[in-house]
Amino acid sequence: MQKRDKISLSVIRRLPRYYRFLDDLRSNDILRISSRELSERMGITASQIRQDLNCFGEFGQQGYGYNVDLLYNEICKILGVEKGYKTIMIGAGNLGRAIATHMNFGRLGFNLIGIFDNNEYVIGKKLMGIEILPNENLESFCGEYNPTAAILCIPKDSAQEMCDQLIHFGIIGFWNFSHYDLGLLNPNIVVENVHLGDSLMILSYRMQKQMEDVK
Ligand code: NAI
Repeated sequence: MQKRDKISLSVIRRLPRYYRFLDDLRSNDILRISSRELSERMGITASQIRQDLNCFGEFGQQGYGYNVDLLYNEICKILGVEKGYKTIMIGAGNLGRAIATHMNFGRLGFNLIGIFDNNEYVIGKKLMGIEILPNENLESFCGEYNPTAAILCIPKDSAQEMCDQLIHFGIIGFWNFSHYDLGLLNPNIVVENVHLGDSLMILSYRMQKQMEDVK
């Protein structure tokens, strides 16, 4: 078994941050970085970085630091950013439009190929060059193009039902923005529930703490 098969999800959750950081170093033509510098610039302890990166190979060298390209390529492979998973979006309202417009799906491993909505005023319009289709077309669309990922930008009331339907049509990965934590009994399906408000509440907690500490 390759070493990387054993990487824990908590390490995986930190990888996008390394990815962004290394991408930045590469665009500034920085070829290597010491673990101390990496640690200072990322605000993570050097030992945490060593632990994280050692999970998938021997990248750091004593006295040399990390080879930026090697590390970047390995993280790309682990995260699968070159997979280009065919993806559909359900719900082309304010949030759906913002996500479709501003996310650079191609760089993140996804390829948005279809957008669906159930509102007659939205259907037929174009978003990022993609015609918004009615839900009735979902089955035939999935049958023809075989998307494997879905982005849910619909209200929570319809999220679970939509999810069940999409599983039936072959979707295995859900990026779920509806304010509903999709509960899945199906072990072959993966879900990332996103609640932007959670991050804001953490900010609130930390601000509160900061204000108490300076009193
Ligand atoms: P919106 O009302 O602007 O858009 C919702 C769109 O979904 C509409 O175009 C509507 O026609 C469509 N829709 C509703 N039910 C559908 C169904 N069963 N199938 C296909 N299309 C359907 O709302 P907005 O602002 O885009 O937000 C969408 C959802 O995301 C809301 O439930 C909101 O609470 C949630 N939200 C979640 C956030 C998060 O961090 N997870 C952040 C912001 C909003």
